[in-house]
Amino acid sequence: MSERPEQAILATDLPGAIKRSQGKVRDIYEYEDGVLLIATDRVSAFDVVLLNGIPEKGKILTQLSLFWFDRLTGLVPNHLISAEVEDFPGAVADYADILSGRTMWVHKADVLPIECVARGYLTGSAWKEYQATGEVCGHVLPPDMVDSQRLPEPIFTPATKAETGHDENIDRETCARIVGRETAEQLEALTLQLYQAAADYVADRGLILCDTKFEFGMIDGTLTLVDEALTPDSSRYWDAEKYVPGRPQESLDKQFVRNYLEGLEWDKTPPGPQLPGEVIAETRRIYRTIYRRITGTDLD
Ligand SMILES: Nc1ncnc2c1ncn2[C@@H]1O[C@H](COP(=O)(O)OP(=O)(O)O)[C@@H](O)[C@H]1O
Ligand SMILES: [Mg+2]
Repeated sequence: MSERPEQAILATDLPGAIKRSQGKVRDIYEYEDGVLLIATDRVSAFDVVLLNGIPEKGKILTQLSLFWFDRLTGLVPNHLISAEVEDFPGAVADYADILSGRTMWVHKADVLPIECVARGYLTGSAWKEYQATGEVCGHVLPPDMVDSQRLPEPIFTPATKAETGHDENIDRETCARIVGRETAEQLEALTLQLYQAAADYVADRGLILCDTKFEFGMIDGTLTLVDEALTPDSSRYWDAEKYVPGRPQESLDKQFVRNYLEGLEWDKTPPGPQLPGEVIAETRRIYRTIYRRITGTDLD
């Protein structure tokens, strides 16, 4: 695979927006009738944005989200207006080079303050909670489960969307208090349906969708899928061939970066360390691989 030495896009500066903001990964510009969501090449680990980016990472995230929006459109409406630069607000036409491939023009939503997580396997924060209590977000699980074990059935484990710092897992009662019972039930049902559809699809490609996080918002009174969907930033994908319950699995994403960082003496507070060239190149290769394994084609 060619390793083109393009630079990572770490920040953008576009004219004419009525409001601009920045997430960990995306630059967000609001115009009168919509929002430009630009996935930069920034990479965050342990909730800290690192100094280097991974070239092309933003494109891979956006192209995967588009792939999934398209496949899941029968289950839920999504926020996409267009991913073609010609359709974007006029003021940004000169920036096509930067925007192309990594940008979605979307309907502005009132984003619900819940991270809608579906889990098919017991790992990460859920494994920790299970070991301490035998439950995960209020779901009582069978005794004697092991790390990474497949759950009897997928579960909805919502979390609050923290403005800063780490998201906090909540139970379904708390979720219902925040968004109302009817919406909470809709969120749970939709999240599980989307998870199942995606997990079934990737299973045919030798992948396990361990868990994933969706965000939903209201657009013109309709509950709508927003943000990114089923990317390696929002999901844990495992290689089915390498799956062995009873230990942590290697996930096909930033795990490589995390492993590198775990080997450093860094206290996981900003600023993050500089990543060496080999770590950037390998992480880029992993992102390209997951793109190819999910979509069946190479990026570009
Ligand atoms: N259609 C939409 N309307 C308004 N905000 C949105 C929409 N889709 C996604 N967002 C918000 O845009 C931001 C995406 O930026 P990102 O870098 O992923 O943020 P984060 O650091 O919170 O993960 C998130 O806060 C998300 O809730
Ligand atoms: Mg995000």
